[in-house]
Amino acid sequence: MLVLQNTFLVICMRLSRIAEGPRYAASTAVVSMEVVKFVTCLVVIAVGGSGDAQLKDSEDGVAKKPNYWSNLINSLNNEVFKKPEQVMVLAIPSLLYTVQNNLLYYALSHLDAATYQVGYQLKVLTTAVFSVFMLGKKLSKLQWVSLVILTFGVAMTQLSAESNANKKHAENTTAGFIAVLLAACTSGFAGVFFEKVLKNSGTSLWMRNVQMGISSILLGVIGIFANSGDREIVSQNGFFFGYSGLVWTVIMLQAVGGLVVAVVVKYADNILKGFAASFSIVTSFFLCYFWLDFQPSWIFFWGAVLVNLSMYLYSYEPPKREEKPTEAPHVAAHNKV
Ligand code: C5P
Repeated sequence: MLVLQNTFLVICMRLSRIAEGPRYAASTAVVSMEVVKFVTCLVVIAVGGSGDAQLKDSEDGVAKKPNYWSNLINSLNNEVFKKPEQVMVLAIPSLLYTVQNNLLYYALSHLDAATYQVGYQLKVLTTAVFSVFMLGKKLSKLQWVSLVILTFGVAMTQLSAESNANKKHAENTTAGFIAVLLAACTSGFAGVFFEKVLKNSGTSLWMRNVQMGISSILLGVIGIFANSGDREIVSQNGFFFGYSGLVWTVIMLQAVGGLVVAVVVKYADNILKGFAASFSIVTSFFLCYFWLDFQPSWIFFWGAVLVNLSMYLYSYEPPKREEKPTEAPHVAAHNKV
């Protein structure tokens, strides 16, 4: 799901930024997406999916009718109102994600979808570095080498983007790429931070997303006011100015993606999430080629090859040789114990 979501999100976001007609304020799309996610998580918790407010049988053994409303109120009371410190802790990744989600709109206003996808793979590097420092993860030499190859590959695709810049849309590829680099840093830190919080407690990921969503919505609204261009659009034309079907598609795709990311981080980890994103380079590449008239140069092609090679090397595990017991079986069994 993450591969599909990544591919379509990036293409639709790019199309929405270069479409003719009035351009929506990206910071309002970030807030809309947070609201969609927040409401979805509340609904899941209300119908009992949080694991925090399980329905209990009444004392006489007869199952009670599910009361969605009290489910929700109890869960919010236990996990939000009684635990404001948890909400504060999650304000750290939510601040970073709010900045990141705004940066991505900016980046896709200046870079084509394929170049953006490859550049954003640097988040695998930042995720690895933060996983080493924050989660005590150990990386092999081959994995470090693969991260260096990744960096070279990304640099090559950026060189090719400079010469491909689309003058029609007044693109500033350098600024776009700086936005991608910053987003890769926030993605690495926020992802590892969220993984640490999620895996060190029994609180459900839906509730964690509600705890995070409160600050995300507030910070997102501050983001609208902080951006003078967007502030002007909203004050003159309203919050939903320029919202076409395509913009709503982007918002829904990003909201679903955020929830899928949380699930991937819970049941796998951030590094695996990185691989899903890197595979979507290949899918985006083909879609851009056939749909968006993207003409890759050779330097882009080899850069993308290096990025995918680095992903392969990063996840490469030498096949384990089967060890034949050299001692008598009963000695081997004893040693094993
Ligand atoms: O590119 P990256 O994988 O860092 O993107 C993460 C996305 O997932 C962001 O849009 C972020 O807002 C979202 N997310 C979320 N809930 C989480 C973790 C991430 O909505 N618990």
